[in-house]
Amino acid sequence: MNTVLITGCSSGFGLNTAKSFLERDWNVIASMRSPREDLLPPSARLRVLGLDVTDSSSIRRVVETAGPIDVLVNNAGIGLATVFETTSMETVREVFATNTFGTMAMTQAFVAFTESLALELEPFNVRLNPGLSPETRFADGARRRMKGDVPEDYAGFVQHVFAKMGAGYLGYPAA
Ligand SMILES: NC(=O)c1ccc[n+]([C@@H]2O[C@H](COP(=O)([O-])OP(=O)(O)OC[C@H]3O[C@@H](n4cnc5c(N)ncnc54)[C@H](OP(=O)(O)O)[C@@H]3O)[C@@H](O)[C@H]2O)c1
Repeated sequence: MNTVLITGCSSGFGLNTAKSFLERDWNVIASMRSPREDLLPPSARLRVLGLDVTDSSSIRRVVETAGPIDVLVNNAGIGLATVFETTSMETVREVFATNTFGTMAMTQAFVAFTESLALELEPFNVRLNPGLSPETRFADGARRRMKGDVPEDYAGFVQHVFAKMGAGYLGYPAA
């Protein structure tokens, strides 16, 4: 039986992905920063582990506890809905620490780079996800990080982007 490890399973795509793999009879390692057993249906095939992808000791513990896996789903991530000009470097670092270095660290710990392998894996029906999904709480977190710092000059642009996001489209197809 195959085993999948998913990051960021407390909500959204991560939670749904964990449910979906459970329904398909996989062994599921659902990782989240604050582990909660009650979010997923009880199953002998489910393990819930604590994992913060920005914390190398947390990653090490998960690698040791998880054992061999067949699939890694790098889902954990945070959003940022603002313009670059006025974004503090602290916020930039926060986003990169989670979305970029967290993903790289997890990938390095388990397998080769998923993103760079996407092209050569496509013929085998392996695809990267997601597009845009306004129905998760991703946008709420992204807006919180705006901290009201969009300059007036960008107001029209930002409004336009939010309108597109609301319609589930931002230059690429909705998931
Ligand atoms: N929804 C969209 O429109 C959209 C668009 C582009 C990309 N994405 C990407 O899709 C993925 C899933 O997002 P979602 O839409 O399902 O949003 P979501 O509901 O906010 O889920 C994000 C998950 O990531 C977890 N997370 C955040 N920082 C973490 C960390 N340092 N270590 C481990 N887990 C962490 C969160 O856990 P906590 O509960 O601990 O915060 C949460 O479970 C993310 O990578 C996001 O960047 C989504």
